Amino acid sequence: MKEWNGKWIRPKEDMGDVCPVFQKKWKTDKTVKKAELYLTALGVYEAKLNGKPVGEFVLAPGWTTYEKRLQYQRYDVTGLLKEENELDVILGKGWYSSQMPGWMVTEDRKRRTARRTGILGELHLAYEDGTEEVLPTDGSWNCAKSQILFSEIYDGETCDASYLIKDWEAAAEFDGPYEILIPQEGEEIREMERVAAKSVFVTPAGETLVDFGQEVTGYVEFTVDAKKGDKITILHGEVLDQKGNFYNANYRSAKAEIHYTCADGVQTWHPQLTFFGFRYIKLEEFPGEAKPEQFTAIVVYSNIKKTGELRCSNPDLNQLFSNIFWGQKGNFVDVPTDCPQRDERLGWTGDAQVFIKTASYNYDTQKFYKKWLHDLAAEQRPDGAVGQVIPDYLPEGAPSAAWGDAAAICPWQVYLTYGDKEVLADQFDSMKKWVDYITGATKDTYLWTGGEHFGDWLGLDAPSGSYKGSTREDFIASAFYAYSTSLVIKAGKILGEDVAKYEELYRNILSTFRKTYTDYRTQTEYILAIWFDLAEDPQKCADALAAMIEKDGSQMRTGFVGTPYILHVLSHYGYTELAYKLLLRKEYPSWLYAVDKGATTIWEHWDGIMENGEFWSTDMNSFNHYAYGAVADWVYEEAAGIHVLEEAPGFEKIRIQPKASKALDWLEASIETRKGLVKSRWTWQEDGIKYEITTPVDTTIVIGGREMEVRPGCYTFWG
Ligand code: BGC
Repeated sequence: MKEWNGKWIRPKEDMGDVCPVFQKKWKTDKTVKKAELYLTALGVYEAKLNGKPVGEFVLAPGWTTYEKRLQYQRYDVTGLLKEENELDVILGKGWYSSQMPGWMVTEDRKRRTARRTGILGELHLAYEDGTEEVLPTDGSWNCAKSQILFSEIYDGETCDASYLIKDWEAAAEFDGPYEILIPQEGEEIREMERVAAKSVFVTPAGETLVDFGQEVTGYVEFTVDAKKGDKITILHGEVLDQKGNFYNANYRSAKAEIHYTCADGVQTWHPQLTFFGFRYIKLEEFPGEAKPEQFTAIVVYSNIKKTGELRCSNPDLNQLFSNIFWGQKGNFVDVPTDCPQRDERLGWTGDAQVFIKTASYNYDTQKFYKKWLHDLAAEQRPDGAVGQVIPDYLPEGAPSAAWGDAAAICPWQVYLTYGDKEVLADQFDSMKKWVDYITGATKDTYLWTGGEHFGDWLGLDAPSGSYKGSTREDFIASAFYAYSTSLVIKAGKILGEDVAKYEELYRNILSTFRKTYTDYRTQTEYILAIWFDLAEDPQKCADALAAMIEKDGSQMRTGFVGTPYILHVLSHYGYTELAYKLLLRKEYPSWLYAVDKGATTIWEHWDGIMENGEFWSTDMNSFNHYAYGAVADWVYEEAAGIHVLEEAPGFEKIRIQPKASKALDWLEASIETRKGLVKSRWTWQEDGIKYEITTPVDTTIVIGGREMEVRPGCYTFWG
């Protein structure tokens, strides 16, 4: 553990909403060989040395379970030093003292909003002459009100660029936490992309809007030639309403506003200590006539490297793929969140487990998830219960099946995709504790009955007025109980742990489940029973499921729980064409319905915008919710056939078994694995299907029922 010389500092008097800036000035007459800055905050900070950012991390130190784990960063700032130096650190509330969740004032939220922010740091200087020096944060630092008068995760930012910072006074040292400090674990949040404005236009209601053509997460940068005191007010929105006017009622209580007071002359600015989810901005006040070239959307997300690629002959499906990638970027701001815009933006565990497989193929997410899983384990309640959201900003929330199961499902997927045993070792206790929690909480032994659950959230077979699909909650809970137990067993065996207790438990859950649930009533019930190996005769069940889907009008009736597996189940049991039919369906409900309506990210509801152009509701209607984007893992694994093998995790060996359909002319998927690039493409040609496969490892290829073992290389087959 690092020994700290630095002291936690903050302004003497609480500045309320105003973001303080801390400053240290010093001179060096010696030549510096190496300068390293260690920095962290209770809040979020932006640090500049001699006017230049100390690194690329925005919203540092990121979001963790602050009571137990706070990351500090280390920046090499050697190149930024001069003879006379000035280090400035601006501090915002960030997630630390945020008003999350926005829809209710919990005791926990009151506690959080009341807490004061502060910074802690040390600059380590190593000189050419062999001497060393440390400049720690302490009472010798100065502090003043910055130009940022307000900054908050949901509500946005207010900046007065005309204000000249004055009234510097000594910062106050305070008794902040040291024992929870950990070196940076996750990926840094960075400004990853820039999207130029597509147009500036006036709506029928007379509002001036800027359209970026793409829903993004981040902030807008604008350049303006203004007079001191001119005002800019900007609102954010995801979609236009039925009449083509600005709409942001679905942000609920999140104001998501920018207020900016101009300095004199040409100036460029963007928010510094918060972020927004948006495609459109509304210029409520803006000096002069706004032109597209004055606006850029800066896209902010964790520094994950793109590893996956999906392409095919159908432009709508390609747009869906694009929406899935954008949905991931937009919800990967340090924590896997449900959405980036409304008064929520929380690390919902259910959404995370639903999407993790797709996420881990699309991008290199190993570090990202490992950090979040450490938070999950750190916040597990004494009885093993897992919060609905991690970091747990809803501590009163009841643990729900398929949400808490993220504790087992997520480590297992990180292990599979990256061959990372460490994640299993790190999380094994947490995985067991979750299963033990269920064992202690259930009303009936060997099932999970009772409790409060989210059910098949947003299932289309929900009774009117309910968010929960018709699948029985006890059924879902018991199925996931079995599934998580099976993952504990697998993980334990890999780690060489004794799992006899869980094997016995599993056998009992399985037989009790089979005795209790002798009939399946919904699509999701069939899907879970088959996919989690609970059904005695999976083929018979799959036949019944396919018949049920056809009877339902070739439509899905599933929600968050059933949807991720529906196509897998179908294509595994001989219904590949039906899987394609659902994937390519354009009418509501379907993935392509939203594409048809102009979506550029994945919607929370299949009918976020209904056929008549009205909104589903203002109540809970995000247009950037990645969960249903989980369908991409079916495209990688089944359509293109790229399978990671449990016995060879990390793509050590691969099985490639593409399932082509006449519904498309061609399809291609690739994943940059830890072992190299794997790629599978099929194309219909006059005399059959051409399969082109590139693999970096020994691979079993299955085409037209024929199994072939191949060495690393590029292959072409006809089928
Ligand atoms: C979130 C979801 C989440 C759900 C749990 C919603 O408000 O946005 O994605 O999983 O609540 O019920």
